[in-house]
Amino acid sequence: MQQEPDTLTVTDNRTNLTYTIPVSNGTIRAIDLRQIKTGPDDFGLMTYDPAFMNTASCRSAITYLDGDRGILRYRGYPIEQLADNCTFLEVAYLIINGELPTEEELNTWTCQIQRHTMVHENVKKFMEGFHHDAHPMGMLMTTVAALSTFYPNARNIADPTIRRQQIIRLIGKMPTIAAYSYRHRLGLPYVYPDPDLSYTQNYMNMLWRRIEPRYSASPVLSRALEVLFILHADHEQNCSTSTMRAVGSSHADPYATTAAAIAALSGPLHGGANEEVLRMLAEIKTKENIPGFIEQVKAGNRKLMGFGHRVYKNYDPRARIIKQVADEVFEVTGRNPKIDIAIELEKIALSDEYFIKRKLYPNVDFYSGIIYQAMGFTPDEFTVLFGIPRTVGWLAQWQEMLGDSEQKIARPRQVYTGVEQRDFIPMRERGVRELAEV
Ligand code: ACO
Repeated sequence: MQQEPDTLTVTDNRTNLTYTIPVSNGTIRAIDLRQIKTGPDDFGLMTYDPAFMNTASCRSAITYLDGDRGILRYRGYPIEQLADNCTFLEVAYLIINGELPTEEELNTWTCQIQRHTMVHENVKKFMEGFHHDAHPMGMLMTTVAALSTFYPNARNIADPTIRRQQIIRLIGKMPTIAAYSYRHRLGLPYVYPDPDLSYTQNYMNMLWRRIEPRYSASPVLSRALEVLFILHADHEQNCSTSTMRAVGSSHADPYATTAAAIAALSGPLHGGANEEVLRMLAEIKTKENIPGFIEQVKAGNRKLMGFGHRVYKNYDPRARIIKQVADEVFEVTGRNPKIDIAIELEKIALSDEYFIKRKLYPNVDFYSGIIYQAMGFTPDEFTVLFGIPRTVGWLAQWQEMLGDSEQKIARPRQVYTGVEQRDFIPMRERGVRELAEV
């Protein structure tokens, strides 16, 4: 029988019935499987996909990623060209609005962001309540959540003007909150944002100004930070972005939603990996210890942090750019000795059958921490440095999700594996159980 092209024919061997399902963009709609039933009481076929290994949950026009070929593009522009030619705020405009800004648009956008870098004095007071050794990601997450109480009208997410205002506020305030959390831990007075400085220079001034009127940032280092921010700005449907979309789909306000995304980013399997890479390199200490460490990884006792990716099965293009940035940064700061251990580790890993077979390459986190450390950041600040630029991607994806008429509240199905119905047992008839079993 001649079938329509762009369809999938499925025969259910349980019933011998055949179904024709449309294929579009290399996908079938999971809901089309629901018609496949063994009888009128059957719920219908579902797909089972733990960790979403093979499920597209949305259509998106923001970021294109080809993990097999090591390609990353924002709105169609290759990441390499954007990193070479743009400022971070220019890329932020592109990601949020879909097009690169004209000069006038960029000036207006920059002014809007700068105007919103200040935080309410009560936000400062709120942050003063954190313990002196609070983790910076914990402070970032909770302070962003607290902003929800400062901007109650943010919950009007259906209003595009209000949505845009919160997007600008969040991009503006992230470096301020991050810098305040840094100074809080050192017991230093907070430095107010300076609207005459670029996005990264202002951040550096808020971090490192002491008694001088303005911190004088090295142009090489502020440009390096700018490039690192561009590389981290979006990465399609990763764990924190999916969290942003899932929480946002309940129509929670963007501050609560962004705080949830920050929580997801903080985990060591996601953004928290950059911090773990530095701890790992510190533990390895010398090149001589690398083979022993690799053996532990291959035995399954350790993970090589900063290696492997759900989507990239080739060199992460961001890691390649970061390696170049490292050389420029070290010209100013002096060479971080950890880079030599990292390069040797990469060399050994990439020629080892274990890593080759599993297509494990360095990801964005492998080299970024080494640069951040050379610039003066402590490892527990690294994930914050990821969260500041990724806020742009989260907000663009949130905005896209809200404007997508196909999206509804995110609510996956499950395969129930628990006990079938059983009758209640009164306490006195439940017998005695070992405590460990409870
Ligand atoms: N070190 C050693 N082995 C690894 C590593 C690693 N870093 N990553 C994956 N593997 C192995 C797994 O053990 C598995 O081996 P097996 O087939 O023998 O069981 C195989 O490679 C496939 O790995 P999965 O865990 O199935 O891959 P998944 O896509 O689920 O995980 C992840 C991706 C979480 C990034 C993983 O590679 C990892 O844990 N890496 C280290 C943490 C890290 O660097 N995270 C940052 C990711 S980038 C980012 O979020 C910005």
